Amino acid sequence: MIVPINLENSSTIEYAVTIDKLPNLSFDTKVAIVTNPTVSSLHLEKLLSKIKAKDLTIVTVPDGEEYKNLNTVVDILDELFENKLDRKSLLIAFGGGVIGDMTGFTASLYQRGISFIQIPTTLLSQVDASVGGKTGVNNRFGKNLIGAFYQPKAVYIDIDFLDTLPKREFSAGMAELIKMSVMFDSKFFNFLEKDSLSSKESLEKAIARSVELKAWVVNQDEKEAGIRAVLNYGHTFAHVIENETNYKRFLHGEAVSIGMVMANLLSLELGLIEKDEIERIKELLVTHNLPIDYKIEDISLFYDKFFLDKKSSNNKIKFILPKGIGNFEVRDDISEDIIKKVLKKFSKVQTK
Ligand SMILES: NC(=O)c1ccc[n+]([C@@H]2O[C@H](COP(=O)([O-])OP(=O)(O)OC[C@H]3O[C@@H](n4cnc5c(N)ncnc54)[C@H](O)[C@@H]3O)[C@@H](O)[C@H]2O)c1
Repeated sequence: MIVPINLENSSTIEYAVTIDKLPNLSFDTKVAIVTNPTVSSLHLEKLLSKIKAKDLTIVTVPDGEEYKNLNTVVDILDELFENKLDRKSLLIAFGGGVIGDMTGFTASLYQRGISFIQIPTTLLSQVDASVGGKTGVNNRFGKNLIGAFYQPKAVYIDIDFLDTLPKREFSAGMAELIKMSVMFDSKFFNFLEKDSLSSKESLEKAIARSVELKAWVVNQDEKEAGIRAVLNYGHTFAHVIENETNYKRFLHGEAVSIGMVMANLLSLELGLIEKDEIERIKELLVTHNLPIDYKIEDISLFYDKFFLDKKSSNNKIKFILPKGIGNFEVRDDISEDIIKKVLKKFSKVQTK
């Protein structure tokens, strides 16, 4: 399947997301593949068997979110200069979202911008990070605070790479996929309820639908001035949970799963969703081995941390809430009392 990306406000940026077996790729330019030791030991041989280039360099960076920073970008840039890549050269991001974000950002910087393509190898990066052109790195002030909107020339999604993905990483990707269905497509949600995605056919179908939805969103709003913010369903809560647990206890998708459960209760409180609908969402998350509970130590502290989020402004917290299954509502006018009432349901100390 091919999903086209045609950004509404741009006549020049157009590329395709191909969801299929990785095709043979031939380039008459210099190419550098950016990857990490985990991915290269498992899959580089396959990638190399598919690629022909004028000159090929492999740039290997350490594996882990903690290396998604400017130092690693500088190391990648150095290797590109040492290998004399020019302005026509191409980068290939080969790995999960960390590699994708960092490679895209490096591509945006090298000699003021060279082309790159994405070959994502985690479920999360296939359904989310590789599509849409958000690139960047973390610094000590927070995650993804330095970066650029920089679109790839193409994205190739081959689900066979997922065969080696640890189960927990797979589940984390499922959280983002379930998120898309709850926000935008009740039929897709029904499909996910019925199909465990254990066959490659249905997994590919689900990934393709998720990519289509993401493309639909990004095409309308590349720079997150409007609807793209809806992709942050569950994230307002998740960011606080990740911050409180020092980014160690949960994978991002796991924190998003809990965040969605919290957002759903807020939605219920506001009369936007039925109880049985939030139960169905919870069940789907549990089916995919995602956490749905978190014990908040201090409600006021948790509440204050909402304001650290880069999406909160003018003392208003922005919540993306499900409006039934398959629709959304964006709210920044919810009273502190109502928010805290929901948070209390997760309080470590239960009061009557
Ligand atoms: N740009 C965006 O729009 C966007 C969206 C969502 C997330 N992100 C970013 O994506 C990152 C998270 O991505 P992720 O979840 O893919 O994490 P990741 O890139 O850290 O990958 C998770 C782990 O899986 C390993 N791995 C990758 N492919 C594998 C495979 N096929 N088999 C076995 N192991 C494999 C990686 O080496 C890593 O250890 C975060 O930095 C987040 O900020 C970006």
